[in-house]
Amino acid sequence: MMAQCNGCLKDSISGFCSSCETILFERSKVTPQLTFNWEDISKRIDGQPMGFSISGVQRKGFIGKPRGVKLVPKMSVDEKSQYIIKPMLSRFNLPEQSPANEHVTMQIAKQLFGIKTAECAFMNFANGAPAYITKRFDYNEKGEKLNQEDFVSVLKASDKYKSKTYQDVGEWLGPLNRVDFLRILIFNFITGNGDVHLKNISLLETADGDMMLSPSYDLMNTKIHLTDNLLALNLFEELEQTSLPLGEKYMYTSEDFIEFGKRLKIKDSIISKTIDMFNEKENILIAMVDKSFLSSEAKEQYKKNVVENYELFRQRKVISTK
Ligand SMILES: Nc1ncnc2c1ncn2[C@@H]1O[C@H](COP(=O)(O)OP(=O)(O)O)[C@@H](O)[C@H]1O
Ligand SMILES: [Mg+2]
Ligand SMILES: [Zn+2]
Repeated sequence: MMAQCNGCLKDSISGFCSSCETILFERSKVTPQLTFNWEDISKRIDGQPMGFSISGVQRKGFIGKPRGVKLVPKMSVDEKSQYIIKPMLSRFNLPEQSPANEHVTMQIAKQLFGIKTAECAFMNFANGAPAYITKRFDYNEKGEKLNQEDFVSVLKASDKYKSKTYQDVGEWLGPLNRVDFLRILIFNFITGNGDVHLKNISLLETADGDMMLSPSYDLMNTKIHLTDNLLALNLFEELEQTSLPLGEKYMYTSEDFIEFGKRLKIKDSIISKTIDMFNEKENILIAMVDKSFLSSEAKEQYKKNVVENYELFRQRKVISTK
């Protein structure tokens, strides 16, 4: 049976479509069926130091250059890794759905909202367990390492949550990146990502040596797996969440994002175009979730959450007069 492309989710493709082969694997005919298991990688990680410098809380391993049709784990410390592979979550709800969740969320960001993302694919380990693969963006074509710096370090924050706001991040960015950042934040709000803390936002060195917002990574609907905040950090310096009575949730609407855009000095016309773009794409977003590698149960949860987030987004703030 022909299914969806394991990269872009295009219809009637088995494995990867030719454009994904080019983007992900330099034209090699790689199959999404891996010939090794997560345990083969994790044993090696536990056994010896592998240059395991990538941080983050989820388990992850490194994959080297494609060898013909196959991807294989990175064999030695010296070998360059081209991909990062993430197995399913080791705890929380529907843990086996996390690779498909991250994959579809990244594809929606890229294809529907024009957000620059790390290239990624959905694959299966030899034993059938799902895997998420992402191509490393921190090397150039010559294989040289590019500088990357996350916002814990850029802002010299004391921790990745709470100590700073999205406004702090935004004010640090140049005008073009501010527009990108507004789009990224609304996207994460709509797709239920409550995990965009300072380690999930980075700067990357460009060819000219400037530091610009890196492609987005680690995008997923975290609400499928756990009860989470609407946003990981406060938008504003007045701490809209933490100033509320205990247990009360701050309800975001598009007005908050409009205010955010204004504070970042983004032109009104660009702010409203951005808001309109999100409002127009609810149905097509939902359709893309339906094409994903998620189970039907996880699809329903994802869509329900998106619909709820859109309802909040479209609401008008009621000024309380009590
Ligand atoms: N495609 C990529 N290229 C380069 N670095 C990446 C890529 N994806 C993630 N990273 C880096 O690896 C770190 C961990 O990855 P992430 O997907 O955030 O894992 P976790 O879910 O554990 O937080 C990120 O903070 C980022 O610095
Ligand atoms: Mg992360
Ligand atoms: Zn494709």
